[in-house]
Amino acid sequence: RYAAALPFETGRTGPLDSDHPSGVSLPEGDTPLYEVPRIEDELGLDRLRVKHEGMNPTGSFKDRGMTVGVGAAAAVGVDRLACASTGNTSAALAAYGARAGLETLVLLPAGKVAAGKVAQAALHDARILEVDGNFDDCLDIVQDLADRGEAYLLNSLNPFRLEGQKTIGLEILERFRDEEGGYPDRIVLPVGNAGNTAALYKCFRELVQAGALAREDVPKLTGVQAAGAAPFVEAIENGSETVERWETVETIATAIRIGEPVNAPKSLPGVRETGGTAVAVADEAITQAQRDLAREGIGVEPASAASVAGLRKLRERGEITSDEEVVCLTTGHLLKDPEAAAAAGGEPESVAADTGAVLELVGE
Ligand code: F0G
Repeated sequence: RYAAALPFETGRTGPLDSDHPSGVSLPEGDTPLYEVPRIEDELGLDRLRVKHEGMNPTGSFKDRGMTVGVGAAAAVGVDRLACASTGNTSAALAAYGARAGLETLVLLPAGKVAAGKVAQAALHDARILEVDGNFDDCLDIVQDLADRGEAYLLNSLNPFRLEGQKTIGLEILERFRDEEGGYPDRIVLPVGNAGNTAALYKCFRELVQAGALAREDVPKLTGVQAAGAAPFVEAIENGSETVERWETVETIATAIRIGEPVNAPKSLPGVRETGGTAVAVADEAITQAQRDLAREGIGVEPASAASVAGLRKLRERGEITSDEEVVCLTTGHLLKDPEAAAAAGGEPESVAADTGAVLELVGE
């Protein structure tokens, strides 16, 4: 659908063959844009929509980047694909690498990746190395491997990844134009490496350059980080041109447990030039937002809920007015992190295998 905005044709289903050298698709995209009337009401906003990227084939937005990135790798003819990951990138790379019939290597921070994501990478047959270090250490190593010609890097430093992720912006704008009669004022999204932020900014820039979108219609890019891993927010708040790496990071939102957003040079200007901002939220606020979304029927992992938690904080601070139309991106599915979901949802109750005992508990 968006081939004209991409570097080469993607979106073909089926395995690679010599007639279809760049077709590595499962297929991805076209994710739902949900109404969330209760959260919209509570936050007092004219219009709030949630674009749930957890509804992609491997359960996160990374699939949009991998269809282009792995397609490029296959076209070039590399031997080994590799990434560092907090989990979702590795799951997506493993699946798309498997689809392309290519060897895949993933480096994960030991003990800091949600169970569903490791399981995906394992079953899709990636070689998984658990590194005694943080995500940032893993990425340093993968960059070294790529520099030495030992692997083709498929983290969001790879520009083909961001090309694919631009389609999130295209879908949001197209849906709003067709169904809501206008464009959203703001897009709020979680930030880790800030690749998605950079991709959306590139999408908007290209549309403006092509004359397809007026400059004043560009949504304000608003990034959210967990308070325990917020170097990007720090840079925005300090008005700094660069981001300082945080050596120590911690958050329940393990997907965005990242100390050095490597796409900062491409995304800091995006937040600033669109009139957006960045905000840090506490883990408790993330969990609350995860519950709030779940109670509207939308199951997301903690990092995804950060977008809603950030929106709530900005509303409370008065930085977002009630007349704004806002889209929150939820980037990954609830089942990615079953432990976090169970902890946020509460314990099941035990009962004897007896109708009377069940009725006694639930009330007649
Ligand atoms: N949300 C989820 C669920 C993610 O998995 C990530 C990144 C982000 C948000 C942040 O996106 O890096 O483009 O700013 N996950 C990467 C990974 C780092 O390895 O899966 P970003």
